[in-house]
Amino acid sequence: MSHDDVSAAPPVVIDTVAGVRSAVEAWRASGETVALVPTMGSLHAGHLALVDRAAALADRVVVSVFVNPLQFGPSEDFERYPRSLDADRALLVGHGVDAVFAPHADEMYPTGAALTRVTAGEIGRRYEGAARPGHFDGVLTVVAKLLGIVTPHVVLFGEKDAQQVFLVTRMVRDLDIDTRVEVVDTVRDHDGLALSSRNAYLDERHRRAARAIPAAIEAAQSAADRGIDAALAAAQSALAGRPEVDVDYVAVVDPATFDLVPDDHRGAARMLVAARVGDTRLIDTALIPLA
Ligand code: PAF
Repeated sequence: MSHDDVSAAPPVVIDTVAGVRSAVEAWRASGETVALVPTMGSLHAGHLALVDRAAALADRVVVSVFVNPLQFGPSEDFERYPRSLDADRALLVGHGVDAVFAPHADEMYPTGAALTRVTAGEIGRRYEGAARPGHFDGVLTVVAKLLGIVTPHVVLFGEKDAQQVFLVTRMVRDLDIDTRVEVVDTVRDHDGLALSSRNAYLDERHRRAARAIPAAIEAAQSAADRGIDAALAAAQSALAGRPEVDVDYVAVVDPATFDLVPDDHRGAARMLVAARVGDTRLIDTALIPLA
């Protein structure tokens, strides 16, 4: 199937490494370019924005759907993470996806835990990495494997996972992987909440409370022309009004290094917010231009 022929049938599912490799080899042999959208499934409009951008950038689009055990800590939500392959395929109809690569864990990790891993290093232990030890090593290991399997010309990620984007971009550069990383803007729901598969865990009360997270970022953006202290204070005060929101961190980092910006920083900066709302850990981010 080519993009000129966007089918009404759900995309084909391939569950073996050999299967997806041979599809990609055939496309590449006829001079076609390939995009990969790595996901853990439970797809929503945020994923569709990645897929649509992928279809605009490449001749062929592969969406991987794999809930990667390596990136979940022992007390995290690996078991309850929503899995919905049929619904995911149905959602992808009409978006120019050529294949869904949905391997089982033993296809991806046939040797089990005895696996060579990519380490995310010091930046991988900050922010999300501090709260979720080993998380980014798991992410980078599976992304490196997916890039090795699919060999895409371009791989797409959402801005919401800004630390993930930063670390994947670093890995691609440090390991000389011949793939371009493309970042797509965060898609937000009508109430401002960044779309995430984990939003499905929120009951009505927690969903209302979670609205404080994007509100904090908006408040910081509005205060940014008065400097970093004003931006942080505005974010903290938006979050303080909601006792259900248990803030883990609010940080302002240099987008080029992911180091905390100094008090006198001017120009581009990125705000990172992470909080637990009920049992659900949520993250959000946006650029805030500090004056
Ligand atoms: O962002 C995600 O959904 C996951 O971390 C990814 C990139 C698919 C790796 O498992």
